[in-house]
Amino acid sequence: MVEPDPAVRERIAWLRDQVNRHNYCYYVLEQPEVSDAEFDALMQELRRLEEGYPELITPDSPTQRVGAAPVEAFGVVEHPVPMLSLGNVFNDAELLAWYRRVSGLLDDRPFDLVCELKLDGLAVALTYEQGRLVRGATRGDGTRGEDVTQNLRTIKSIPLVVRGEVPERFEVRGEVYLTRRGFARMNEERAQQGLPLYANPRNAASGSVRQLDSRITAQRPLDIFIYQFGYPSRALGETHWETMQRLRDLGFRVSPLSVRCASLDQVQAYYHRWVEERHTLDYETDGVVVKVNPLDFQERLGAVGREPRWAIAYKFPATQGYTRLTAIKVNVGRTGSLNPYAELEPIAVGGVTISKASLHNEEDIHRKDIREGDIVIVQRAGEVIPQIVGPVLSRRTGQEQEWRMPTRCPSCGAEVVKPPDEAMHRCVNAACPAQSIEHLKHFVSRGAMDIEGIGEKLAEALAQNGLVYDPADLYSLTADQLAALERMGPKSAANVLAALEASKARPLRNVIAALGILHVGAETADLLAQRFGSIDALMAAAQEELQAIPGIGPKVAESIVAFARQEGNRRMVEKLKQAGVRLAAEEGSQPPRSLALTGQTFVLTGRLERLTRHQAEGLVKQYGGTTSSTVTRKTSYVVVGEDAGSKLERAQALGVPTLTEQEFLDLLSQAEQGHARASASG
Ligand code: IVH
Repeated sequence: MVEPDPAVRERIAWLRDQVNRHNYCYYVLEQPEVSDAEFDALMQELRRLEEGYPELITPDSPTQRVGAAPVEAFGVVEHPVPMLSLGNVFNDAELLAWYRRVSGLLDDRPFDLVCELKLDGLAVALTYEQGRLVRGATRGDGTRGEDVTQNLRTIKSIPLVVRGEVPERFEVRGEVYLTRRGFARMNEERAQQGLPLYANPRNAASGSVRQLDSRITAQRPLDIFIYQFGYPSRALGETHWETMQRLRDLGFRVSPLSVRCASLDQVQAYYHRWVEERHTLDYETDGVVVKVNPLDFQERLGAVGREPRWAIAYKFPATQGYTRLTAIKVNVGRTGSLNPYAELEPIAVGGVTISKASLHNEEDIHRKDIREGDIVIVQRAGEVIPQIVGPVLSRRTGQEQEWRMPTRCPSCGAEVVKPPDEAMHRCVNAACPAQSIEHLKHFVSRGAMDIEGIGEKLAEALAQNGLVYDPADLYSLTADQLAALERMGPKSAANVLAALEASKARPLRNVIAALGILHVGAETADLLAQRFGSIDALMAAAQEELQAIPGIGPKVAESIVAFARQEGNRRMVEKLKQAGVRLAAEEGSQPPRSLALTGQTFVLTGRLERLTRHQAEGLVKQYGGTTSSTVTRKTSYVVVGEDAGSKLERAQALGVPTLTEQEFLDLLSQAEQGHARASASG
C-alpha cells in the first residue's frame, strides 16, 4: 500500500476542520460565514481527496454525517428510517455520469425518472397513526431529530387528519419553507421592532420551525411541500410518481411542478428551463431533484453512506455570494435623486462578475446596518441589478465605518434636501451637470429617441463642454462642433448628425418617454400617446383628466402637470418643435378602439386557428391591454392554442385563468359591445 503524502493528510485535516466549523455556523448558529458555493467547494475537495485515499476516511469526517446535532431543548426523536441527504451534480456531464452508474447497477433495464424542484427550506418528517398527525420532527442529523410537533401543527397546509385508505402508521417527508413575500414581510416587521434580520428565507424558515414558543411559529407564513413517503415502503403505489399522486389525493401539499421523464434529455430540458424561470416562483429553489421512479428499483439501488443512489440533486448556479463592500458612493440621477451604490471586491455570482450593487436609499442602508468595509451577502436573483442582502455580522472587525448621505451634491456641490414624504435625497439644482448628463443619456437611449452614436462618453463631453444644456440642444449641434470633440472626427460627426436627423420621425410614445417626466416610463408613455395624440395636448392636460385614464394614478398625473408647468420644459418642447421633431401621432396610427382591457396582461401560447400571433397581440393592444411572453401571478389570461407547452402548465400551477381562442374572441367582442354602448350613450 502506498503511504499517503503527509501534505494530503494535512489538507484533509484542514478541510474537515473548515467544514465542521461552517456546519456549526450554519446549522447551529444560523449565522453562516461563507456562501453555499464556497462551502460546496470545500466539501467537494474533501470528498475527492477521501475518494483517492479511502484509508484516511474516519467515522467522524463531515462527509460521513449530515447536518448538526439537535438542540436539546426540544424532545429528541429517533427516525425509524434514516432521513438521508442527497449527492450533488453541477452540470450535464456529471448528471450523465450518475445516470450511467444507475443504469449499470440496474443491468441496463429501462426506467423512468421524476424531476422535482429542490426547495430551499427545512426537511421534516410527519408521522400519522390511524390517520392522525401524531408527530412532526426535523431531520436533525438524519438519525435523530427534534420533536417540533406543536410547531408543525400550526402550518395550515399540513393535514391534521387524513381520510381514506392509509396504513395504520405511516410517515411522509417534506420541506417547510417561507415564500419570498412572507420572508420580506417578516423581515420588515423585525426591522420595525429593531430585531436582527434573517439572511434568507431558508434561515428564517428554520428559525421559525425551531421556535420554543409555537405561538410565534403560528405567526410565521410557513408552508410545506411533501416530496417523499417515509414508510411503510410501497404502501401507496409501485412508483414514486403514483405515491405522490396518492398523497396529493389524501390532502398533502405536493408540488404541481414535478414531472415524470422518460429520458435523460427530458430531465436536462426541465433543469435548464428552471434555471431560467426559477426566479418567477415565489419561493427559493436551489436545484432539481432527479429520482428513479420505480420503487423496487430504488430499493435495489439502496444508499451509500448517507446518500441514496436512486436520487441526485442537480444544483442551480449560485445566486448569492459573499464579498467585501469597499465603499459606498453616490451617483446623481436624471431627476436629481442621489442614488447610493456599493463598490464591491469583484465576485462571480450566477455566472456574472459583480463589482457594484444598488443600495436604494440611506434609510435602507441603515435599516440593514450596512457599513463600509463589511463582508456582505450579494444576491442576483432574476433582477438585473444585484442586491445586497445584508452584512455578515460575525465577520465584523470593528474597523467598519457607518455611512451618511453627503450634505452637498457630489456633482455640483449644491445643497442636498430630503422631502419628508420621499425616501430619496435630492440635489435641487436644476442646472446640475450630473442631471443634464443623465437627462441626455436617457433622451438618446433605446425606447426613447434611440439615437445611435451618442453614448455615455459623448453625452458627458457634450454637457461638460457646454454644447448641450437640455436634450433639445442636440438638434442644433453642427458638424464642426462635434468633430472638434475628443475621440471624434468628421466621419463620426456626420454619423451622429444623420442619427439625429433620423430620430426626428420617432413615434410619439418614444418622444413622450424621452422627455424624462418623473414616473413616466415606456408603458405610461404609450398610454399617453394613445390618449392625447400630441405633445401639445398632453402639456395642456389637467390633473383630473390625466387621473381619469385607467392605469394612471395621482402620483403620475401630478408629475406630468408639474413637468408641463415648468418654464424650462416648455422651452425644451418648443425647441424640439422648431428642430422638426414630430410631436404628434403619425397619420393612420390606430387609436385604441376601447380601453376595455386596460390593465390586463395576456400571454399567448400555442398555435391559434383563426388569428396569427401578431394579429392577436394587435387586438389586445387595440383594446388597451398588454401582452407578455412570461406567465406570472399578475398575468390576467393565458390564451391557449394548439400544442401549448410549458406556459399552459405554468398558468395552471399559478391558478391564472386560461382562454381558448373562441373564448378570447368572445371577450373581445364583449369589449367591442361595451365600447359601442359607451359611445352611443356618451
Ligand atoms: S428527496 C433521500 N426531494 O434536500 C432523498 N429532497 O439535500 C431525500 N429537498 O434533506 C430527499 N426538495 O431537505 C427530496 N423534492 C425534494 C426536495 C428535497 C428539497 C431537500 C431535503 C433534503 C435535502 C437533501
